This record gives sequence, structure tokens and C-alpha cells, in this order.
Amino acid sequence: MAPVWLPGEREKAKNMESALKQFTEMTRWARLLLQPALVAGGLAVDLTAGNGHDTLYLWQKVGPGGTVVAFDLQKRALENTARRLRSAGAFVACQTPATLVERASAGVFLVEGCHSRLSSVLREEPLAVVANLGYLPGGDHALVTRRETTLAALQAAAACLAAGGRLVVTAYPGHGGGEEESRAVQDFFAGLDPHRWVGLNLRNINRCHAPFLLVAEKRTGGA
Ligand SMILES: C[S@@+](CC[C@H](N)C(=O)[O-])C[C@H]1O[C@@H](n2cnc3c(N)ncnc32)[C@H](O)[C@@H]1O
Repeated sequence: MAPVWLPGEREKAKNMESALKQFTEMTRWARLLLQPALVAGGLAVDLTAGNGHDTLYLWQKVGPGGTVVAFDLQKRALENTARRLRSAGAFVACQTPATLVERASAGVFLVEGCHSRLSSVLREEPLAVVANLGYLPGGDHALVTRRETTLAALQAAAACLAAGGRLVVTAYPGHGGGEEESRAVQDFFAGLDPHRWVGLNLRNINRCHAPFLLVAEKRTGGA
């Protein structure tokens, strides 16, 4: 039987539901935890551009004088990202094939290619590197991030990150192949040298297949 709502109650329930959703939304926490590492004019990297939400966030934080490099294997994802960033006023350049991004050039550089090529694209140390794993929302669910290339990208990111910089990854154990990749990513973070890194794992305590977040900050002199 459909519930009977008193005036205003339905709206209240909806608001509560959306507040709860936000509370456990890892991409939201990811941005909050990236924020302290991002300064105007800096360099930031999005390993998985997708629909461009994270790329936009990075660009808003480094500002028009900063540089954002964003990777994706899918042309469609990069087109979505370019559209989002351009309509926000960003200068957007597409790099095909992936070539070195000159730090002097401010703006958003979209790299069509695998994020494991990170070190061949960057010349300088980024302040922040973000990866939102899995598939493109609204796209082909078979085109997902893969354990091997994700680990290669995270190793490259950890090596080049600036001291005080942050590496932030949202992992999705709930989809096909996601569990294995999520475990490998968690092991990667757990294996970071505690003298050189501080790390955090944020997860939904009573939903074991829900997305979770891994954050690591490089201390001075870390690698
Ligand atoms: C969950 S989506 C990213 C969402 C995005 N951060 C946003 O804010 O909209 C994951 C993306 O990773 C991309 N991807 C998968 N494997 C990749 C790889 N090896 N290198 C770069 N991107 C990859 C997919 O094409 C997909 O667009």
C-alpha cells in the first residue's frame, strides 16, 4: 500500500534521504579531502576524467593560473569533460597522443590514453592526484579501470607527488572485477612507508560492497 503523507512530510523525508546519501557519498568526501592540498596556480591530476566532475573541482581550486591534467581512455569521456570545463570558462587543450604537458601553460590538458603513462606526461610534481575508479556513468559498464594499470598509475602518482601533496582514490568493490581491483588498491595504500606517508581509509561500516575512499598525504622527503 502506498504511504499517506501529511503536508510537508514527503518533502522532509526526501531531504533526509538526500542528506544521508550525501553523508556516505565518497566522491564528496574525496573532494573535501583533496582541498587542503590544492592551491591557486598549482598542478593537479585527474587519473579518470569520466564526465569531468572531479576535473572541474580541481580546476576550480587551482584557478585559471593553475594546470590540471586529466586522463581517460574514452573519447566520449574526454568530450564530456571538455564540455563541462569549457562551459565553466576553462582553457581546455586535448593531447592526442599523450605528450609532455608544459607546466608554464595554464589550463586543463586532456590526455586520451591510459593513466599508467602519467610519468611521461608530467614534468613537475603535482599537488594532488585523484582517481575515481570503475566505469563511466552513463557509458559502457564493460569499460572499467583495471587492477594492473590502476596500480601502475598509482605507483607513478606516488613517486611524482609533491611533498605535502595528496593522492585520493575512490574504489568500487561492488561491480565485476571491482573487488579484486579495490583490494589491490587498498593493499597499495597499506604498503606506503609510514615514515613518508600518512594514510586514511574511509568506508561505509555496514555495507561491505559500498564504494570506499583511500587518501594518502606525502610527508616532506617522501617517495
Ligand atoms: C568512474 S569514471 C570517472 C568519473 C569522473 N572522475 C567524474 O568526475 O565524472 C571512471 C573513468 O575511468 C576511465 N578509465 C578506465 N580505465 C582507464 C585507464 N586505464 N586510463 C584512464 N582512464 C581510464 C573510464 O573510461 C571512465 O571514464
